[in-house]
Amino acid sequence: SPPKKGKHFLHLDDFSKDELLDMLERGAHAKQRLYARDESFKPFAGRTMAMIFTKPSARTRVSFETGFFRLGGHAVYLDPNTIQIGKREPTKDIARVLSGYNDAIMARLFGHADLIELAEFSSVPVVNGLTDYNHPCQVSGGGGGAGAGWRAGRTARPGAAGRLGAGIMADVLTISEVKGKFEGLKVAYVGDGNNMVHSWLRLAARIPYEFVCICPPGYEPDEGTVALAKAAGISDVTVTSDRNAVKGADVIYTDVWASMGQKETLEVKMRDFAPYQVNQDLMALAGPQCTFMHCLPAERGLETVDAVMESAASVVFQQAENRMHAQNGIMLHCFA
Ligand code: CP
Ligand code: NVA
Repeated sequence: SPPKKGKHFLHLDDFSKDELLDMLERGAHAKQRLYARDESFKPFAGRTMAMIFTKPSARTRVSFETGFFRLGGHAVYLDPNTIQIGKREPTKDIARVLSGYNDAIMARLFGHADLIELAEFSSVPVVNGLTDYNHPCQVSGGGGGAGAGWRAGRTARPGAAGRLGAGIMADVLTISEVKGKFEGLKVAYVGDGNNMVHSWLRLAARIPYEFVCICPPGYEPDEGTVALAKAAGISDVTVTSDRNAVKGADVIYTDVWASMGQKETLEVKMRDFAPYQVNQDLMALAGPQCTFMHCLPAERGLETVDAVMESAASVVFQQAENRMHAQNGIMLHCFA
């Protein structure tokens, strides 16, 4: 088989802090060129990327497809029925077949072990577009500048990467855009101890911040991942069921109570999670400094409410746009 090219993007802590910073800077640079409508910037000209989806997606699909195209490449969307990975044929076969046609593979899969197998057998970089275990593109989000700018032809705010200092990426970039920094801030995640939490925890193993995961008893994140984050000794990491732990948070972050593929658990969860809804009361408990974030899609009336989603504290759409810029930075780093 051909020699392996580039790097896989599977978990945030597969990378050093400097490498994460490099992704951020590349994303910020690409964002500025896009904002400026610089049609000469086509680093992926002539490249192709296969995108395997076994679950639904709006943001991940569109931000990867659009971002890769805008940088000169062509992305091939493979819907859940097309490949039927692991069902119509084994993951390791698909890895080698797609490596023969493409310069990269992006995959959104159920089982994390399937993603690892895909990467093991692929000779081109594999990017994790979410598994049941984690979602690193979301937390690592995009490079530089405030949201919504490039469509209006605005110039991206200069120096976003510099303001991060030690450098961080997208949800994280969004936080740095809003707060002027990320390191040392307190992020309180409220809800299910799911794939989003595992990415926040793995980020905590590389970039210093205070991470509090507040979830109902029985819905804690993976113990091994909590241990990994704590053992790194970089960040202050807490898992608790006490909603009062939001006090003083710079950011409250939430996600759906029942993730894709687990929607049948929602009925039981609605009872267990009711005290953990991110509503105006919880935002008030955190304090007036607190920003609201959600990876989307959001279920208003469950994990949060319209009044919070639409409030001045909410940056959820800035966050969504930053997916594209972040991922461009990730691809520029990993496909180089
Ligand atoms: N946040 C996110 O990954 O959204 P999609 O599921 O729509 O891709
Ligand atoms: N935890 C959610 C994230 C969606 C982007 C899910 O896996 O469905």
